[in-house]
Amino acid sequence: MTTSVQKSGGYPKVRRMKFRFGDPEPMTKYYAGDDIVLSHLVALLSAAFPPGEESFIRSVRRFADQITDPVLKKRVAAFIGQEAVHGQQHSSLNEQLFALGYPLPRFVSRQGELVRRAERLAPPAAHLAITAAAEHYTAVLAARVLSSPEIQSLAGDPEVRNLLNWHALEELEHKSVTFDVYRSIDGPEWLRIAIMSVMYLFTIPVVGLGVLASIIADPPAWQPITVARQSYRLIRGPIVRGLLGEIQVYLKPGFHPDQVDTAALLQRWQTELFGAQGALVDRVR
Ligand SMILES: [Fe+2]
Ligand SMILES: [Fe+2]
Repeated sequence: MTTSVQKSGGYPKVRRMKFRFGDPEPMTKYYAGDDIVLSHLVALLSAAFPPGEESFIRSVRRFADQITDPVLKKRVAAFIGQEAVHGQQHSSLNEQLFALGYPLPRFVSRQGELVRRAERLAPPAAHLAITAAAEHYTAVLAARVLSSPEIQSLAGDPEVRNLLNWHALEELEHKSVTFDVYRSIDGPEWLRIAIMSVMYLFTIPVVGLGVLASIIADPPAWQPITVARQSYRLIRGPIVRGLLGEIQVYLKPGFHPDQVDTAALLQRWQTELFGAQGALVDRVR
């Protein structure tokens, strides 16, 4: 377990953040550089984070009394702390977005009870395997966000970009925590791979249909030519291009998240955002 801690650059650090969305300048409806499709995609993900991350936390808590390794225990506590703050800060962004009118994301954000009911149907090991797979998705996306100047320039609203960079940084900090919990409880390798196989097939189509439905529910976004052009740009662009290949490595027997080396990226952004002159030091409460 120590190797995981060293490779991922120490324990994840819980930072109590407070972002200032819409202050001093009010947010615009299509805050991601006037891009309707990208704005709906980020709104949808942001809406899904609070209920989703609460479920991730519960999946780990189901095994809390079986985690005996003190290092892993500390990493789990930090994971829970980080995900809890992510949920809070995304909720704060979501309030601003919903006021601007994003009906489907608003509906998605209220599905916490449905998620709770669904996860009760899953055996605890499967619930944890879903979390570990989802954490691989977030780690892959996080590394893309932090390493692509092109994605950085897409974010539009500066405070939304700050939120996404901070969230991405912490996703990299804790990327192997739930995976290591799964290993520590002897979660079967076949189940881990089976769960990701299903998620691998369905996640991108489901998110794609979600974005389409979100746009359909938002009359000002009914601009078919613009939406078609922006969708094409998104699919061919740095967020989606090659994504499945990076997800696929998780399906290899014996895979571990630390086999993808993100230590240098992590260190660079830790300094950039939270070093002595860090860009987000004044957002920490
Ligand atoms: Fe998160
Ligand atoms: Fe996470």
